[in-house]
Amino acid sequence: MTNDVLISGSSNKLLAQAVSNKADINLSEVELEEFANREIRLRVLGDVKGKCVYILQSTNYPAERNIIELCLLADAVKRAGALKIITFIPWLGYSPQDKVFRDGEPLSSEVIIKVLESAPIDQFVTLDVHSKLVLKMFKKSVKHLSAMDVFIEHFKEKLDDSWCSVSLDNGALDRANLFAKVLNLEISKFDKTRDRKTGEVTFHKLEGDVNGRNVITFDDYVSTGGTTVKSCEFLKKQGAKKCIYCITHFIVPETFKKVEESSIDQMVITDSIDWSSESIPGNIKILSIDSLIADYIRNDSN
Ligand code: R5P
Repeated sequence: MTNDVLISGSSNKLLAQAVSNKADINLSEVELEEFANREIRLRVLGDVKGKCVYILQSTNYPAERNIIELCLLADAVKRAGALKIITFIPWLGYSPQDKVFRDGEPLSSEVIIKVLESAPIDQFVTLDVHSKLVLKMFKKSVKHLSAMDVFIEHFKEKLDDSWCSVSLDNGALDRANLFAKVLNLEISKFDKTRDRKTGEVTFHKLEGDVNGRNVITFDDYVSTGGTTVKSCEFLKKQGAKKCIYCITHFIVPETFKKVEESSIDQMVITDSIDWSSESIPGNIKILSIDSLIADYIRNDSN
């Protein structure tokens, strides 16, 4: 067992336990309480003095609370003498707001990154963040992981030459291209726009032919489900047979129902956000990113 320590924020406890088992790293306990006004009061139990401490915390809903909790955890372990603090943030809250889309808006992802960087964290590790712009906003060291290999490992022996891939929009093009290339699939591209006020998604055309073929694609996140559900309707109208969506982050639990009622044959997501208390529809499958994080810890501590 390594001498390093893993600490879980309250958002990813199951994942942290799985990582601890796989990486053979001690999972330190945290005492977490609330004051009467609901402010967080926490205490890290266990010895972190002189050790490398990994903290795992997604900053999904309630994002503001999970962000503050992460900052408090980092401060606590620093004060307790941690040598180095590395945080895994599988879902980085506010990361889709990586541009000022309309006059009068803040650059929200940069604001959140500044808040996180105010804590004594030496290195950040993110997973399939929305864009490269977000990574450039970090002033401290940041490493980026992708769940793509987890999906590829799951599907690589299962796809014959009836399968092709699509890129859902321009933003998804790089990751969708790489996914298609590794799986040796042809790729088509959607022309999509989104109304910045209503959030409504419109698919205009598909460059490529999916008629009579099965489609699999890879994208970073599903929020309202507008992109995936509507693209699937479009693909099926163009004659596609099965449609499978590999999505790293599923960020809104209300969207489970929408996917269940859609024409999507399967959506494969990860446990970057803990949905163990939700009822998961039959057409959604969850793959774990535990090995991805455990491998990172093992390589880092060698
Ligand atoms: C787009 O750029 C993203 O990668 C997602 O495809 C999209 O924004 C997901 O949002 P929704 O599920 O609300 O369409």
